[in-house]
Amino acid sequence: MQRVSLAVLQSGMTVAGNVRGADGRLLVRNGMVLTDASIKKLASLGIGSVYIRNPLFEAIDVPELVREDTRVKLIRALQTAFAGYQKSGDLDTAALRGEVKTMVAEIVGNRESMIHTFDLRTYQDYVYAHSVNVAIISVLIALSLDYNEARLIDLALGALLHDIGMLAVPKDIILKVGNLTPAESEAMQRHVNDGFEIIRKRREISTLAAHVAFQHHERIDGTGYPRRLKGDNIHEYARIVAVADIFDALIADRPYRKGMLPHEAYEIMMTLADKYLDKAILDIFLANVAIYPVGTVVRLSGGETAVVASVRPRLQARPVVKILLDAAGAVVENGPDLDLAEHLTVFVTKVYKEHELFELRAFAAGLRNDGGGATQ
Ligand SMILES: [Fe+2]
Repeated sequence: MQRVSLAVLQSGMTVAGNVRGADGRLLVRNGMVLTDASIKKLASLGIGSVYIRNPLFEAIDVPELVREDTRVKLIRALQTAFAGYQKSGDLDTAALRGEVKTMVAEIVGNRESMIHTFDLRTYQDYVYAHSVNVAIISVLIALSLDYNEARLIDLALGALLHDIGMLAVPKDIILKVGNLTPAESEAMQRHVNDGFEIIRKRREISTLAAHVAFQHHERIDGTGYPRRLKGDNIHEYARIVAVADIFDALIADRPYRKGMLPHEAYEIMMTLADKYLDKAILDIFLANVAIYPVGTVVRLSGGETAVVASVRPRLQARPVVKILLDAAGAVVENGPDLDLAEHLTVFVTKVYKEHELFELRAFAAGLRNDGGGATQ
């Protein structure tokens, strides 16, 4: 099966696996063939992507760090908490804490999994989905720093709430395309102070977690804001969240640009060591993120098209791939696995973007045809 985001779903595709809403209600049944109406319904329910049957992908199992319904529940809980705050001025984090515990337990249980960014880029509602992604990445980094459960939960809460101060920033500034005026950027930067003030009033959240909101735009070289803190003067929580925040922002689609692919974001991240980001923490992150996530379709130097089947930490640039199409574009039935760590003369020369996959005729045929239709 293959994960396909809603923007490129087409009628005729067959759903693989049940899709449930945040409340556990069954929304779409396994095996259902999508119609335009059902795709619209999924969009209205806030579902970002679904698994689709594709004979070419039969053997590909995309590992999930956090279950889909856990992610959805967390996004909803965050939305509810933010909306409640806007209404009453009171931030109720009780429900949030319950969901955070579940999320942390799942990441601890899946700690051998890497960050496969395909399952991070799903929802359209930027602030909430982004905050949940930042929390997930932060927890995974902190696991390598041997945080215990209590600290993981504390950090995750800080990460989830890090941008709560954005509620006070006018929407037109947040969505503005192009450079901000000095006054606009001052209004934007104020979100770190506002966020800190909101969170630190909550007795059930630690002061350290509140400092994530306050310090997540500080830079290791002292050029950040609001206080131009340097190096270790920035709390470790905030140094972790800064790494997660920048990476997820790079791969997310924004109103003014398409999100980068993971390998592009990876290269940008590497250049930020010792400038924006703490190098030791960045290195932990880079060792845990898949440059070519499982399910990525790539072209190889020999002209074949292949799908990434597995990735190992520290060998991210040399994944195991499964050949899908030969150099002439013909489908290779049960294509062989090729371990690029052993075949050092084979290189990834192109990573297909999701919409480009549909331009590969054999590929698109497989997606729109439940079983056997791949060899068109
Ligand atoms: Fe921020």
